[in-house]
Amino acid sequence: MAHFVVKSCFILFLFLVISQSALATKKTLKQRAPCKQFTLYYHDNAFTGNDVDNATSAIVINETKLGNFKFGKMYVFDDPMTKDENFRSPPVARAQGFYFYNMKTDYNAWFAYTLVFNSTVTKGTLNIMGADIMAAETRDFSVVGGTGDFFMTRGIVTIRTQTFEGAKYFRLKMDVKLYECY
Ligand SMILES: *[C@@H]1O[C@H](CO)[C@@H](O)[C@H](O)[C@H]1NC(C)=O
Ligand SMILES: *[C@@H]1O[C@H](CO)[C@@H](O)[C@H](O)[C@H]1NC(C)=O
Ligand SMILES: *[C@@H]1O[C@H](CO)[C@@H](O)[C@H](O)[C@H]1NC(C)=O
Repeated sequence: MAHFVVKSCFILFLFLVISQSALATKKTLKQRAPCKQFTLYYHDNAFTGNDVDNATSAIVINETKLGNFKFGKMYVFDDPMTKDENFRSPPVARAQGFYFYNMKTDYNAWFAYTLVFNSTVTKGTLNIMGADIMAAETRDFSVVGGTGDFFMTRGIVTIRTQTFEGAKYFRLKMDVKLYECY
């Protein structure tokens, strides 16, 4: 019996030591500087029914009656990404994906999209997702992976709404910070 108690105490002690060191590691984890960083502007131009040439996104599922904040409404987009704020600047990438409204008590959306780069300078993709809490001045999305020039990357995209014209057009500033580059 005594032997068993001693043994149990030893195991408990070992467990404490291990969990303490795990905590210590977590605490000392420092945020590194990004290995790659750039800013792009996202232009979303919603389809109204007759602007086929100009529109870059469209409603695919309409809102439900749950609350007054468009709950359930979903857009699919193929939006141009430019280096400056001008909608007409030549796009350097396209943002292809979707977002939907998912909050009953406020405007809140969830984004999942790929930035597709297909130029002579950059070829590859960045896969991005995250919650867009629209009332917050800045929101962070996760870069969960990449291909081509962004092989196996990970990082954070900080977004900021710069302008919006009702439900027709909005522009987001996207600061891309990658913390793993190969
Ligand atoms: C295309 O959309 C942009 C952004 O809303 C707008 O400024 C522009 O006037 C539109 N062009 C046409 C031809 O509708
Ligand atoms: C979507 O819902 C709104 C509000 O209920 C309605 O005005 C609109 O006609 C609907 N659009 C489609 C495409 O069903
Ligand atoms: C990428 O660019 C090349 C050359 O312009 C073109 O042939 C190809 O279709 C493009 N691919 C995509 C996915 O847009």
